[in-house]
Amino acid sequence: MAISTALYSSRSEEWPTPQSFFDALNKEFRFTLDPCAAPDNAKCRRFLTKQQNGLTQDWGKPRVFCNPPYGRDMRQWAAKCFEASCAGALVVLLAHARTDTRWFHDWVYGKASEIRFVKGRLKFGDGKQSAPFPSMVAVFQPCDRPRRRKPHAKCLL
Ligand SMILES: C[S@@+](CC[C@H](N)C(=O)[O-])C[C@H]1O[C@@H](n2cnc3c(N)ncnc32)[C@H](O)[C@@H]1O
Repeated sequence: MAISTALYSSRSEEWPTPQSFFDALNKEFRFTLDPCAAPDNAKCRRFLTKQQNGLTQDWGKPRVFCNPPYGRDMRQWAAKCFEASCAGALVVLLAHARTDTRWFHDWVYGKASEIRFVKGRLKFGDGKQSAPFPSMVAVFQPCDRPRRRKPHAKCLL
């Protein structure tokens, strides 16, 4: 599948985070809100769906795991992650590592406390095929805590 097709298809929009990958992050961060989910793929008991529109909701101050649809709203999701952290949430964003994009430079690079680049490719969906793109995890610490603003890379897997 071409990368553009993979990123923007409605099927890939539903691709769940690989459970073992989520479990490792959850052990570290103990998530309490999944703001982009469907009832059958939600990673937390508290979640928001497309119908509720997680982009327009006040996330409050939970510990958020955000694996949004990697489509045209990616910029809005990245901005929302940063802004929610400024309002007191801890936000961990799993996204495609498109380091050449404006959303990455405007809302992740220099804003996230930490950026971890995934070694190899994640297997989303049915878990049989590797994603046609690299992934990253950006950690936005709550603004009410002292915060390092210099992003640094750390390899996962
Ligand atoms: C890549 S999947 C991630 C699913 C799950 N959270 C996970 O990590 O396994 C993205 C999910 O966000 C949902 N979604 C799409 N637009 C949304 C919106 N505006 N608000 C909340 N959820 C949305 C999709 O229906 C889909 O279930």
